[in-house]
Amino acid sequence: MKLFSVQIPELAKCSVLMRERSRVEETIHAMQRAGAGSLQVISDFDMTLTRFAHNGKRVPTTHNILDNRLLIDEDCTKKVNLLNTYYPIEIDACRTAEEKLPLMVEWWTKVHELLIQQRIRKDMLARAVEESSAMLRDGYKLFFDRLTEQQVPLLIFSAGVGDVLEEVIRQNHVFYPNVHIISNYMDFDQTGVLRAFKGQLIHTFNKREGALSHAAGLRELQGRPNVLLLGDSLGDPDHGEEMNVEETRILKVEERKESYINSFDIVCW
Ligand code: C5P
Ligand code: MG
Repeated sequence: MKLFSVQIPELAKCSVLMRERSRVEETIHAMQRAGAGSLQVISDFDMTLTRFAHNGKRVPTTHNILDNRLLIDEDCTKKVNLLNTYYPIEIDACRTAEEKLPLMVEWWTKVHELLIQQRIRKDMLARAVEESSAMLRDGYKLFFDRLTEQQVPLLIFSAGVGDVLEEVIRQNHVFYPNVHIISNYMDFDQTGVLRAFKGQLIHTFNKREGALSHAAGLRELQGRPNVLLLGDSLGDPDHGEEMNVEETRILKVEERKESYINSFDIVCW
């Protein structure tokens, strides 16, 4: 126990909750012994790799970053904001994932339709990210640098907008070759104008299916049985479930402690 808290002092903080501390310790020791060659990291993006808030203000999600006059008009902003009533449903601990699922599809679909109507230009995305207050979490540089040094694949599964996500990590200088992204990507026409979203929609509660079909094709993940799974949503722990791997689930959350403690091994709040 002492050795453990010396090695990872953060885990001794009172803001870190674990349902079964001794089992988590064993798992971490086993993962350490197996080494970097056995490890893969799977992470959510918005509010997991990015901050939830900064100086009392919410940090924008990849969808929120698109709310910039370079990309969408005032009327579209109003319509998208009206749809924010779906967010409390997404995080409602009293509803099941099954209940939430159709509503999430509705939310994402309506917003994506509004965005397509705006004829968003690909060459404006980088500026929109620059002008936004997007912010990765403290310590992100060390996290990304260490994983790339050790050649540990980092798979980012996000229900956000892939093109924006890529630009955020590119502008933070951590879009390394070991980083793989599965997300909702925009489909632009030949003139660089948004005409659709590619592939099957990924929302908070269907990440598993999307993730699995993509992850199956990733050679980098073969032979890496240990998974560190990071997420901020109760939809997130599903990512690794059918991958037949040992997992440690770490998550950041302000509230809804009880349900999170039942879903994740380690909860940072
Ligand atoms: O990366 P992650 O999967 O967390 O990205 C999805 C997040 O984006 C959701 O948690 C949701 O709250 C947020 N979102 C949003 N606007 C939308 C749809 C989703 O801010 N129109
Ligand atoms: Mg998230």
